[in-house]
Amino acid sequence: MCGIVGYIGTRQAAPIILDGLSKLEYRGYDSAGMAIYDGERIVTKKAVGRLKILENLTRGGETMPGTLGIGHTRWATHGAPSDANSHPHTNQSGTIAVVHNGIIENYIPLKKKMEARGCRFVSETDTEVLAHLLDYYYRGNPLEAITKVLHRVEGSYALGIVFADHPEEVFAARKDSPLIVGQGEDGCFIASDVPAILRYTRTVYYMDNQEVACLRKDGMRFYSVDEEEIEKEAVSIDWDADAAEKAGYEHFMLKEMYEQPRTVADTLSPRIRNNEIVIDELKMTDEELRAIHKIYIVACGSAYHAGVTGKYVIENLARVGVEVEVASEFRYRDPILEENGLVIIISQSGETADSLAALRESRKRGFRVLGIVNVVGSSIAREADSVMYTWAGPEIAVATTKAYSAQLAALYLLAMKLARVKGTVTEERFQNLLQALRRLPDQIELLLGQKEKIQHFANRYLGARDIFFMGRGIDFAISLEGSLKLKEISYVHSEAYAAGELKHGTISLIEEGTLVVAVSTQPYLYQKTISNMVEVKARGAFVMALTGEGNLAIEKASDYVIYLPITEPIFANSLAIIPLQLFGYYVAVGRGCDVDKPRNLAKSVTVE
Ligand code: AGP
Repeated sequence: MCGIVGYIGTRQAAPIILDGLSKLEYRGYDSAGMAIYDGERIVTKKAVGRLKILENLTRGGETMPGTLGIGHTRWATHGAPSDANSHPHTNQSGTIAVVHNGIIENYIPLKKKMEARGCRFVSETDTEVLAHLLDYYYRGNPLEAITKVLHRVEGSYALGIVFADHPEEVFAARKDSPLIVGQGEDGCFIASDVPAILRYTRTVYYMDNQEVACLRKDGMRFYSVDEEEIEKEAVSIDWDADAAEKAGYEHFMLKEMYEQPRTVADTLSPRIRNNEIVIDELKMTDEELRAIHKIYIVACGSAYHAGVTGKYVIENLARVGVEVEVASEFRYRDPILEENGLVIIISQSGETADSLAALRESRKRGFRVLGIVNVVGSSIAREADSVMYTWAGPEIAVATTKAYSAQLAALYLLAMKLARVKGTVTEERFQNLLQALRRLPDQIELLLGQKEKIQHFANRYLGARDIFFMGRGIDFAISLEGSLKLKEISYVHSEAYAAGELKHGTISLIEEGTLVVAVSTQPYLYQKTISNMVEVKARGAFVMALTGEGNLAIEKASDYVIYLPITEPIFANSLAIIPLQLFGYYVAVGRGCDVDKPRNLAKSVTVE
């Protein structure tokens, strides 16, 4: 999504803004720009393409002197990627500049009104309407003009705004799109996300909806959209700077895969105390947990896939019915939700527009919402009734790995907590499950050690046109994620299928040499899945099997077998995903793809 950085202080603004924007590249973008006050006027430079182009255009910011400014990386929503559509946008006289992340939903009628008043638009964007509206309401008081505009616009926004005749202030405003404010030794910052300003400050303020910030070089004030001053709590960021760097790995994605033992442990261990599951942040008594008779898991992409696994795990352990749905469907289909239902929104970024909308729809209907979120202080985290954080740290690669694994861990904990309070598992089984959870990080570590073997196998499929994944039960759930990991970074077409479903159509696509990845980790389904493997092999498929150690019978139906350490079958997805992530990664690397920033994708889809 778009990235915003702003600065006001004692140092040159442009180099700081360029550096900050480079730390936001992971959000996905197609153009970049800056507006800097040079002592007399606002100078704006912008260019379509990678940030490097803007850096070269401004000689690293040298050609844009000034200690106050705003910058932006744009992920196009309204108007194709172009210099004219890049941000910042200004009013006609160039005395007001604005950068924006989000969507102004009523920009067309507003644009018509401004044009009728003689405004000349130079772009196709919704954002430019804001610049002209600010000009329309501005009578010398920036805060007054901003709040008037915010009362007129509908939709989502994170804004950075500068006024040429107020060169001692930078303004920010936020509704639905994330925005933080930071204070460092040499000045104050606005940014879409922490990595952009982490090298300058660890003290940040997460802006809430419909708040406005006024930054000066030595401090800031916060206001409501009714211009009432408000107090905000600072948050101290404890990420080390390296966390946002690659730490020696070739790609963020590989680094984050290798962080999974730790992030799974970080998510599990604080919640396992004295051989019990303790999830205080649920803010629900055992009584309230016992009263839950239905769960709705709503999410997008990989988070949705984690939810599919969650369904199998929660139903198996806690015997509570679980429905899983993609948020973009849930939010518009007027869902029928049962009394005593709990809605769980899973989201790494905590800013996915469809998931946030599903949360709001659920709360509007009076349902309790639990967020399983990775980004602390994100919108979903703050708007849910309670939130279980997946302590995976900043995930930079667009393709999620460590956050996904942490989501599985969080769902296991929730399932076990529900099973405990509902008495649906014996003490012995509960303790065995606990033991299995504790072993997962080391077992993940062990599987990561097989990366060369996976890489060697992956290199045989760099030219593949189609690759199919199949499994039964939770093996189907992990097949969904394995397929997405492959296709979203290698651009190789892939589909995941319930293994029993292939013969109802898709098997017609199996040709000589087609790779089928069969996941078979559930002993009670071993034989069934072997039958499906025989079916596809009979039609020429090359079958790569993932199965538990000891299931030697699978070899007669496979061409290549990866054995997984033995764990409680219900937790097997946490192990099976490792070779699947590595496979997708090495196919993508072998195909020369931009692994961390795949084409057309963004790390956080904060617009519909
Ligand atoms: C996963 O690799 C993708 N990047 C994407 O499917 C992602 O899981 C989805 O957009 C949901 O994002 P969220 O978890 O931040 O809500």
